[in-house]
Amino acid sequence: DFGTPRSRATETVTLEIDGFPVTVPAGTSVMRAAAEAGISVPKLCASDNLDAFGSCRLCLVEIEGRAGTPASCTTPVTPGMKVRTQTPKLKQLRRGVMELYISDHPLDCLTCAANGDCELQDMAGAVGLRDVRYEAVENHFTPRNAGGDLNPQWMAKDESNPYFTYDPSKCIVCSRCVRACEEVQGTFALTIEGRGFDSRVSAGMASDSFLTSDCVSCGACVQACPTATLQEKSIIEIGTPERAVVTTCAYCGVGCSFKAE
Ligand code: FES
Repeated sequence: DFGTPRSRATETVTLEIDGFPVTVPAGTSVMRAAAEAGISVPKLCASDNLDAFGSCRLCLVEIEGRAGTPASCTTPVTPGMKVRTQTPKLKQLRRGVMELYISDHPLDCLTCAANGDCELQDMAGAVGLRDVRYEAVENHFTPRNAGGDLNPQWMAKDESNPYFTYDPSKCIVCSRCVRACEEVQGTFALTIEGRGFDSRVSAGMASDSFLTSDCVSCGACVQACPTATLQEKSIIEIGTPERAVVTTCAYCGVGCSFKAE
């Protein structure tokens, strides 16, 4: 898992990551260069087959001579660049980011279908998050006050699709599903609606369901989801399979994958 797609450039760039020299094709992200050198940088919104988006802010790094802490997934390598991925400051920043994510997430891991196969859970462990200082009695889809109640439909679980469920309360709005729908499937069925605490993934207007949307049930969004927001019904019903075989259809250029469990 390298975090961002491979660069196809023929020229190469040599840089230094955590003191090690690394040579990668020009155009490679700092995150991918680190991964190719065996250095793992925490991430949530980046994925091998999607364009980098830079929304989760977990993959921050320090670059000598550069102010701030840029996201390694959206920062391309440059010759002679000196990158640090594991300083005390970065570790503290990542724990702070994860703490905010977890404070706005249902704390039902033990009964969640994704328990043990959840990137949010994995990353919380990877950055060393042990406690959340903010009260986790609400999440972003809980009605907040008498005057500002959200439309219940806005918060409702969508189980209309025969193959998967959509639970907005578990969404971290990383946009991986939206990008997978666009970049992998080319369907453009999903979007992000709203702002701030009201933002959520939508398959159309708030009153629409996945079933009545342009969704073609390819599963690219489910595969891209790092939490249990989009979850296969078969996993909810019978649990995670011990073994799975993935076959890629060669019929057209889309490359749909079918998983036999
Ligand atoms: Fe880089 Fe999310 S992985 S910002």
